[in-house]
Order: sequence, then C-alpha cells, then structure tokens
Amino acid sequence: QKLKLSLEQIEKSGYEHFMLKEIFEQPKSVHDTMRGRLLVEEGVIKMAGIWDHIERFKNANRIIIIACGTSWHAGLIGEYLIEEYARIPVEVEYASEFRYRNPIITDKDVVIAISQSGETADTMAALKLAKEKGAFIYGICNVVDSSIARITDAGSYTHAGPEIGVASTKAFTAQLTILSLIALKLGKHNGNLGNADFMSLIAELDAIPKKIEDVLSSTHELVQNIAKDFVNATNFLYLGRGYNYPAALEGALKLKEISYIHAEGYPAAEMKHGPIALIDENMPIVIIAPKKGHYDKIVSNVQEIKARKGKVIAVVNNGDTQVSEMSDYVIEIPETSECFSPIVASVPLQLLAYYIAVYRGANVDQPRNLAKSVTVE
Ligand code: G6P
Repeated sequence: QKLKLSLEQIEKSGYEHFMLKEIFEQPKSVHDTMRGRLLVEEGVIKMAGIWDHIERFKNANRIIIIACGTSWHAGLIGEYLIEEYARIPVEVEYASEFRYRNPIITDKDVVIAISQSGETADTMAALKLAKEKGAFIYGICNVVDSSIARITDAGSYTHAGPEIGVASTKAFTAQLTILSLIALKLGKHNGNLGNADFMSLIAELDAIPKKIEDVLSSTHELVQNIAKDFVNATNFLYLGRGYNYPAALEGALKLKEISYIHAEGYPAAEMKHGPIALIDENMPIVIIAPKKGHYDKIVSNVQEIKARKGKVIAVVNNGDTQVSEMSDYVIEIPETSECFSPIVASVPLQLLAYYIAVYRGANVDQPRNLAKSVTVE
C-alpha cells in the first residue's frame, strides 16, 4: 500500500510510464554518474572508493563480480572492460549460484557486487559468504544506504536517481558507466593503459550522454514504427558479439520482462550451434552491429539469417551500408569506442521493448510476476 501511494505521488513528468521517463533520463543519469569523477580537462578519474583501497585492487588475484538480472548483464560488460584495460582476471557469477556452490574465495580476491536496489537477497547472501572468507567487498548500488551498500568495505553509487519501472533501464547504463570508470582508472594506475589511450577513452566516455540524447531523438519515432510490426511476434532472437553480446542478453531480457514475448540473447557466433535452427520468415532477429567490434563477422551472420528469411532489425552506426542493405529494419546510432557501445546501443533496444509492450497492452511499469527488488530467495 505504501509503495503504491508513493508510486502514484511521484511525478511522471508528462510521460505515460515511469519506464519511458527513465529511458529518457539517461543522458542526465549517465552524466550524473560521471559528475565529479570524470575530470577530462585534468585527465583524471576520481573515485575515492577505489583510490582508498588501491592496493587491494592492485594485489588482487582476480575480481569476482556478483549480481542478478540486469545487474548481472552489466557485470558481464564489466568483465570485458576490466580485463581489457586493467588486465586483471575477472569472473562474473549469478549470486544465487555462487552462494550455494562452495566457491573458492581467498583474502586476495576482490568481490564487486552490482545491485540497483542494494536489497537483492541472493546478492546479499553471496557477499556475506565472500566477506567471511576474507575477500574485499566493493559495492555498485543505486539506492543510497541500502543493505548491500552498508555491508560492503567500499563502493561507488550510481547516481541514476530513483528507478521506479520494474524493468531496469537507467540503472543499467549507470552501472556500465561506473564499470567503465573503474576499468579505466585501474588500467591507468597499474600501467596497462597508456596515457594517450586513457585520454582518448575518457574523452569518448564524456561524450556518451550527448550520444544517448542524439539516439533518443533520432530513433524514438522510428522504433515506435518498428514495434508496431512485431506486436504479434511470439519469439525474438538478439545477437551481438564482444561487448555487445551482454547488450543482446539485456535487450532480450527487457522484451521478455515487459511484453511477455519469448526472447533469447546469444553471442552472434553461437547462432550456428542451435538458434539457427529456429530461423524462418517468422523469426525477428535483433542484431547489434556497430563498426568497431567484429563487424565483418556480423556481416556473415546477417547473410546466414537472410538466407533463411529471418527478419533482421539491425542496430548499426550512422552511415552504415553493408549490414543495412541486408536488413529489414535499420536503427542508426553514433559511433563510439567499442567498450562504450553497449551504453548507446541499449537505448533503442529499451525503446523497442517498451513500445512492443505498450502496443500489446501490457503493464510496463509493473509486469506480472516480477518485483523491482527481490528480497526473498
Ligand atoms: C529484479 C528486477 C531486475 C533487477 C534484478 C536485480 O529481478 O526486476 O530489474 O535487474 O532484480 O536487482 P538489483 O536491485 O540487485 O540490481
């Protein structure tokens, strides 16, 4: 009752749903998450939580990222980022699996928990276990002073602001922002990321809020039109490679959460080991294909899909030709470094899920059977 009242009271700022409002808040929420941390002019990333414990990170045997749901998808992208730039081995675990499998944890491990709510029961239990074994615990939470934020040794808040829609959107892109900052900071500090590369990456990251803004205005109408054609779809495949493989998982999760259409995300190259058997003229396939990041390989995936008459919805960079010519629907996004491309590519996928769900008459802010924060096992 209490939750319902406050939900009703909180302004939707003219948007029909909180989810849409939150999708549109992302230029600001990503910017807020970087504010005071990313100092481009000075060429520095300031994060007290990392800096105060830099030796723990420097001497870590490995980093274990623990999360559930959308936060787990952010963790997968965090793995790519931290391994690429800081060269520290990373493992990403579902909290619910980690806590029950008697994992090997030592005091040389750093555990990063990612949780929007900071209240997820499985994530909390996994952290307690890691803490008992002496690991250093770092939190990436959105809700200030939440249970997880309180038991961690240090952490960084995502400053995304309250997220009301059950399907996570702005918290996800804020998590990716924090993980990018951490990876670049650690890489710079331990010498794996040279100064010139560091400087160009931070300039790219700084430009992301503007790129999200551009994507929102240039794709909003287009995506609504695409959504209309898929209201009666029963299945969807989402494909991506590298950094955009987890973005494909997240795109599929958004669609199933709110539209109740079965959707699966896959690394594009794994298509041939199973999902390709499903492809016919009734199968929509969302494919994330920015220029940077295995583009040529994606081109051949699209050829294989078209040979089987699948319907391709491609997310490509502005001015793309090769994938675009073969695709049934094309959504253009601005170019950025490969490592930040999931932040930008996720935005039209959120809109696609949102509009398909709206046109199906679903309750997008409170989808059936789902909870914003899962505080029981
Ligand atoms: C629930 C929510 C998801 C969220 C997941 C993890 O399933 O519906 O949106 O990603 O919990 O939540 P957390 O708060 O730990 O990020």
